[in-house]
Amino acid sequence: MGKHYGQLQRQGRLLKSRITEGMVFLRRFVGAPRQVGSIIPSSPYLTRAVLDKIDWDQVRNVAELGAGTGVFTRSIVRRARPDAKLLVFEIDPDLQRMIGGGHPGLKLYGDAQKLPEIMKDLGIDKLDAIISSLPFTVLPPAMTARILDAVQDTLAPGSTFVAYQYSKIMKAHFESRFAEIRTSFVPINVPPAFVYECRGDRRGG
Ligand SMILES: C[S@@+](CC[C@H](N)C(=O)[O-])C[C@H]1O[C@@H](n2cnc3c(N)ncnc32)[C@H](O)[C@@H]1O
Repeated sequence: MGKHYGQLQRQGRLLKSRITEGMVFLRRFVGAPRQVGSIIPSSPYLTRAVLDKIDWDQVRNVAELGAGTGVFTRSIVRRARPDAKLLVFEIDPDLQRMIGGGHPGLKLYGDAQKLPEIMKDLGIDKLDAIISSLPFTVLPPAMTARILDAVQDTLAPGSTFVAYQYSKIMKAHFESRFAEIRTSFVPINVPPAFVYECRGDRRGG
């Protein structure tokens, strides 16, 4: 009885924190729809579909772009090696405050456009994986181009860039930049999402 009550209490607390998280996210979406790009945080199905594309045992340096309230970040923290460096970018300070920590190598930053400068400051040459939740189709086109240039400049050869999108608009852009693209679809998410797994720099890098 006591054990079940404890479990129920834990589930209640988790639900309450998810509801609070969802409300903050929705409020930020209303304030800046073209920056936030969706009304609620990603589902556990989408989180798994994205993070399962990475072989976490091989990852020493990883960047997460557009962390929101940290739904992916919390799973990355659970999967990452203890000696890994996790560079997590979220431009909205209110959302950034909800991300939390839990890994000795996790560092929080703002604008994903600063990725190359930040890596230089940290003495990191290349990344073994990059995860993106950025709403590329609604961001200013120059920002999208700068961030994708930064992704290609910083990703180690053979490593994976995983991005989800709510439409297929970015598919041609990804195909023009990356040699190998695999697409999957996750219906249980609001809205349903396409996951793009990208490897190999078409620029010859
Ligand atoms: C669709 S939400 C995804 C949030 C979270 N990863 C999830 O899956 O629920 C996209 C996030 O990208 C952030 N964002 C937009 N432009 C950004 C930029 N230039 N640098 C860092 N984060 C950015 C937004 O503030 C928003 O939190």
